[in-house]
Amino acid sequence: MPTSSAAVVPGPDAPARLELPPLRLGRLTIDTPVVLAPMAGITNTAFRRLCREFGGGLYVAEMVTSRALVERHPESLRIIGHDEDEKVRSVQLYGVDPVTVGRAVRMLVEEDRADHIDLNFGCPVPKVTKRGGGSALPWKTDLFTQIVQTAVREADRGGIPLTVKMRKGIDEDHLTYLDAGRIARDAGVAAVALHGRTAAQFYSGTADWDAIARLREALPDVPVLGNGDIWSAEDAIRMVRRTGVDGVVIGRGCQGRPWLFGDLQAAFEGSGERIRPALGDVGEAFYRHAQLLVEYFEDEGKALRDIRKHVAWYFKGYAVGGELRARLAQVNDLEELRGLVDTLDADMPYPGAEAEGPRGRAGSPKRPALPHRWLESRSMDADESHAIAAAELDVSGG
Ligand SMILES: Cc1cc2nc3c(=O)[nH]c(=O)nc-3n(C[C@H](O)[C@H](O)[C@H](O)COP(=O)(O)O)c2cc1C
Repeated sequence: MPTSSAAVVPGPDAPARLELPPLRLGRLTIDTPVVLAPMAGITNTAFRRLCREFGGGLYVAEMVTSRALVERHPESLRIIGHDEDEKVRSVQLYGVDPVTVGRAVRMLVEEDRADHIDLNFGCPVPKVTKRGGGSALPWKTDLFTQIVQTAVREADRGGIPLTVKMRKGIDEDHLTYLDAGRIARDAGVAAVALHGRTAAQFYSGTADWDAIARLREALPDVPVLGNGDIWSAEDAIRMVRRTGVDGVVIGRGCQGRPWLFGDLQAAFEGSGERIRPALGDVGEAFYRHAQLLVEYFEDEGKALRDIRKHVAWYFKGYAVGGELRARLAQVNDLEELRGLVDTLDADMPYPGAEAEGPRGRAGSPKRPALPHRWLESRSMDADESHAIAAAELDVSGG
């Protein structure tokens, strides 16, 4: 994939080219300064493999909860697993307690399970923020400092670069990214990634690239990565030009479009070539995704239930009827899926703009759920310290 020679076309847009140096994260060099954003339920070994086949970059696993990891829950161990040919094994940890996060990092280092570790401070999910976790946490600068310092110290023992990923803050009146960025830099992180939204925005509105530019300017001595609303290689280049970031982090834009990483690599190498798959190519990628999920889950039924959420993303903009889409989202085994994919009009060309633009989660802004009186002080009191331990249970998403 793509198989048809018409699938790779010269970009229309000559200025949308930019050569950016490799991204250096501690001892790692990422030749293409592009990061697949960790996405719970998406960025497993199956999807990472598909993406990796198209282009270079850093491919982060789904986040894992520090506590579940140190307790060795089988699902957590599955999440942090990597294919043998993943040269940089990248793991994202979520945690709220410095001791548990430290233990999780130590486990990854001592057992040689990761080459890069990212900490998630961006999760806006109410069940997480209402206990002070995720994007609510950097508000408490003492707790944030302790977690990042402990994690960096443990990661350093194995020479593993540690990065943090965060949002702008809780809402526009309670921004945390500049303080948190400085704290993380002072703690010795290898890079700071900023999703240009507040927790209150969830995935609504547009990402604030100006905030990303401000962070870049405030932290001249550590790589800054920009995240939010990159739907194409042209968007990535625009973000770099506008913000000066050292690399870009791509989330929803690659859902159903693993070939975006091919476009990104081309763009960052100064080439205008873009992958524009015909429907047959999309069908094959979709089928292969399902096959890889079967390997990942070791359970055909589970894999085919999981691929359902990808149907609308893969076929966005292509003239595939509602009935066929519904059937694609209901198959129970690979054989049935093969039969359906074979009925697609393989030669149907790339539809252009309709296949592009926003996809995936959107939603509307909401007042973030927070612990009682959380915003009254930027440091933790005893009750809050006690309560936050509960924030580490059973979370997913960012
Ligand atoms: C389905 C889904 C799952 C996500 N899971 C995580 C996660 O596990 N860890 C994290 O830091 N961010 C997570 N995010 C946030 C993304 O990493 C990214 O920051 C966000 O989608 C903004 O980037 P985008 O505009 O390129 O999508 C998730 C986003 C989505 C849509």
